[in-house]
Amino acid sequence: MPHHPNRLRASPASAVGGRIGVPGDKSISHRALMLGAVAEGTTTVHGFLASEDCLATQAALEAMGVAIERRADGLVRIEGVGPHGLKAPRKTLDLGNSGTAIRLLMGLLAGQPFDSTLTGDASLVQRPMERVAAPLRLMGARITTSAGGRPPVTIGGGARLKGVDYTLPMASAQVKSALLLAALSASGTTTVRSPGPSRDHTERMLEAMGVRPALKSAGAGHTVAITGPATLRGGEVRVPGDFSSAAFFLVAGCLAARDGLLIENVGINPTRVGLLTIVRKMGGHVELRNERTMGAEPVADLFVRQSELHGIVVPPELVPLAIDEFPILFIAAAAARGETVVSGADELRKKETDRIAVMAAGLRALGVDVEERPDGARITGGPLRGGSVDSRGDHRIAMSFAVASLRAAGPIEISSTAEVATSFPTFLDVARQAGLEIAADGDSR
Ligand code: S3P
Repeated sequence: MPHHPNRLRASPASAVGGRIGVPGDKSISHRALMLGAVAEGTTTVHGFLASEDCLATQAALEAMGVAIERRADGLVRIEGVGPHGLKAPRKTLDLGNSGTAIRLLMGLLAGQPFDSTLTGDASLVQRPMERVAAPLRLMGARITTSAGGRPPVTIGGGARLKGVDYTLPMASAQVKSALLLAALSASGTTTVRSPGPSRDHTERMLEAMGVRPALKSAGAGHTVAITGPATLRGGEVRVPGDFSSAAFFLVAGCLAARDGLLIENVGINPTRVGLLTIVRKMGGHVELRNERTMGAEPVADLFVRQSELHGIVVPPELVPLAIDEFPILFIAAAAARGETVVSGADELRKKETDRIAVMAAGLRALGVDVEERPDGARITGGPLRGGSVDSRGDHRIAMSFAVASLRAAGPIEISSTAEVATSFPTFLDVARQAGLEIAADGDSR
């Protein structure tokens, strides 16, 4: 497992710059493992993200008899077992910190002939699972969640799934994807309707593996349908750099890239780049260079230059398209002139931590004026002082406060940072390469 120090000390650096790359996309890496596992034939993954979250998915699939080889050069080969080839796991599957792993696996396992139990770490066992369990039950799955609808989750084997027409209460790619994975082993058509777009990596990868979902968009609404049972065909998956990891450097660049910073090979799927739109509205100078496609996904190099940011009212329709980027957006808002208002973002309270509360507490510790609201926040930009911040084991909050040091008057001590390894194990190396001054302070996990 990758390790990461559990305390960081980020000191104000004078500038960032140069040319960096970020590791592979987490969402796409999870999906490559899961779809490759139940496909027929071999799937070869280039650019896989070997982070704790994705390795938890790998271990779960291996516990169900899937052979997965991770080579020293980073290439991953998955020997697909086909739609009926998974084996009963001998123990509870532990998905660590990963909401994507547990929720998508619930869909994948709902139609299997064997029982399984899924759980996770102290953060994951606090997160809501009924949003996936309830629609899967409508398809015929036998799923039990624990008190409060949380993990551990038990899935009874031998359920015969049938297609349903289900309308999601929120635009969630995890719930949508879980239902699409269950649909592969259901009879008839499963239709998933969403109030707005959410990341569509599952749809793109299903199509690349030979099962084309029917898609329809009308106004803000999005509909995707799959007719099962359906068999996937293994193949090549090319994983672009993770936009959500690039986002830290996109904001770092706006704060301090006097001569510009180039972030190479980043996925720019339109369902992921809400932060790009938001940062540009705030006055951030970001260029997309060398736009191209990589397998099923669009990719570009991002060039960012130090910019005078100003506060904005963030359009609520951009929230699902920037859902993982709010911690770093709060830092951009704190460094901007004037007020930034975020609303319609109550989902942030259900992530690895309550990201509204934990970000507000951290920013206040650095002297920033933040008004916390049930579904967002109002942040008034101004000077940041040094201080101590607890990221409460949330990887994206830890990395966001490291970037905040670029505008702080003194060092920022960040505690509980080991979980950076769940999504971006090489963050420290890449951050230092860009010019951030971050010392590891204390034990690694
Ligand atoms: C993800 C979807 C998002 C996101 C998460 C990854 C995915 O969650 O926050 O980090 O890979 O499908 P929701 O779909 O619950 O919003």
